[in-house]
Amino acid sequence: MNILEIISKKRDAKELSKEEIEYFVKEYTNGNIKDYQASALIMAIYINGMNDREITDLTISMAKSGEILDLSELGKNIVDKHSTGGVGDKVSIILLPIIASMGIPVAKMSGRGLGFTGGTVDKLESIPGYRTNIEINEFISNVKKIGISMIGQTANLAPADKKIYALRDSIACVENIPLIASSIMSKKIASGANKIVLDVTFGKGAFMKTKESAQKLAEQMVRIGKLAGKEVKCVLTSMDQPLGYAVGNSLEVVEAVNFLKGDMPKDLKEIVLELGANMIQLAGKGESLEENKLKMIKNIENGKGYAKFKEMVQNQGGDISYLEDTNKFEKSKYVSAVVSERVGVIKEINAEEIGKVACYLGAGRTTKEDKIDSSVGIILNKKIGDEVTKYDFLAYVCANDKTKLKEAEKKIFEIYKIC
Ligand code: URA
Repeated sequence: MNILEIISKKRDAKELSKEEIEYFVKEYTNGNIKDYQASALIMAIYINGMNDREITDLTISMAKSGEILDLSELGKNIVDKHSTGGVGDKVSIILLPIIASMGIPVAKMSGRGLGFTGGTVDKLESIPGYRTNIEINEFISNVKKIGISMIGQTANLAPADKKIYALRDSIACVENIPLIASSIMSKKIASGANKIVLDVTFGKGAFMKTKESAQKLAEQMVRIGKLAGKEVKCVLTSMDQPLGYAVGNSLEVVEAVNFLKGDMPKDLKEIVLELGANMIQLAGKGESLEENKLKMIKNIENGKGYAKFKEMVQNQGGDISYLEDTNKFEKSKYVSAVVSERVGVIKEINAEEIGKVACYLGAGRTTKEDKIDSSVGIILNKKIGDEVTKYDFLAYVCANDKTKLKEAEKKIFEIYKIC
C-alpha cells in the first residue's frame, strides 16, 4: 500500500477501503507516514468527507491503535459520558459523583483543555494532591472500591487520535463531523463502556456552530456506536454563553462544589439533570427521565453526591479540606470587576471569546508545553437576559499579571453586548 495513492484517492473524492484506512492509522501512529502527508490526507477528508463505512473504519482503527479496556468486571451496563467541548463546562465533576452515589459505577477518563475549551483533567488537578495519572489497575480497583474514579486519558488510549487531533489542531481541521465523530467515538470505544451519553454542544462556544450541524454530528456518533455495538444517546446543548458562572480551573471546581452543596445555577442544573437522567436510564436504573431527575435532586439535597465527590478526591490523594473550605484555594493576585456603562439587558456573551480570554490569562494552553495557572479566569456576574444598570458589575477578572488583567478587562467589557 502507498500513502500517495491514498491521498490522491481522497483528494479526488473517492471512497477509501478499510485496508487503506487501517494502513494510514497504523503507519502514521508508528511514525512511518510524515506529518505533511497525514496533513494532506486529513485536509482531503475535511473537504471531501467520508461515508458512514469509512468513518466507522477510521474510528475502529484509531480505537485499536492502543489498549482497549475491558470493564466487564464492573458490571453489565457500564455507562460513560463525553462532551464535544465547551466553556465553563464543569458538568462531569458535578454529574459523575451524583451518578456514582446512586450505585452506578463510574470509570471516567477525561481530556485536557483544547483550544478555547476547558478540560476536566486540568480542573481536577487544581485540587492539591489529586492524582489524574494513575495506572489502569488502580483505576479499576478504585471503581470497585468506591464506585467511581476520574482520571486523565492514559498514553495508550487511542494514541492515533492523540496524534491526529494535534495535527488537526495545527492545520485548522478541527471543526469537521467525520473527524470529530471518529475522534470522540474511538476514545469511547477504547475506554470500555458499552453505553454512552454524549453532550453535543452547539453555538458560539462549541465546535459545531449551529444546532443543525450538532444534530448531524450526534446522528453520526449514534450510527458509529450502533456499528460498534455500543448504545449511544445524545443530548444537544447550547453553548452560546459559558455554562454556569465560573470559567477557569479552580474557579470551576469551587462552582462544582457549591453546586453539589445545593447552589445550582439554572443552565448548569438543566444540563446536569438531562445528561444524568439519560445515564441512569442507560444503566437500567430507571426508565422515566423525569423520575431520574428527581432521584438526582434527592442525592444533591441529602448530600450523597457531595459525599461521593469528597470520597473520590480523597481516594485519589486530593486534599478534601479544600472542598470543605473552598476559601483555601489559592487566589489570583488581582481580582477586578468589569463595570457596565449603560442600562439594559444582556444580549450576548460570546463563549468562545470568553474562553480565549481565560486561556490568555493562563487558564488554558496555547502550546502543549504551557503550564496551567489554576487560579486565574473569569467569573460572570451577569448572564444573557439579566437586566443591568449603570455601574453594575458584569464580571470579575482573576489574574496574576497586571498587564493581562487590564487587557482582559477591556476584552470582557467588549464581549458583553447589552441592548
Ligand atoms: N473532542 C474530541 O475528543 N475530539 C474532537 O475532535 C473534538 C472534541
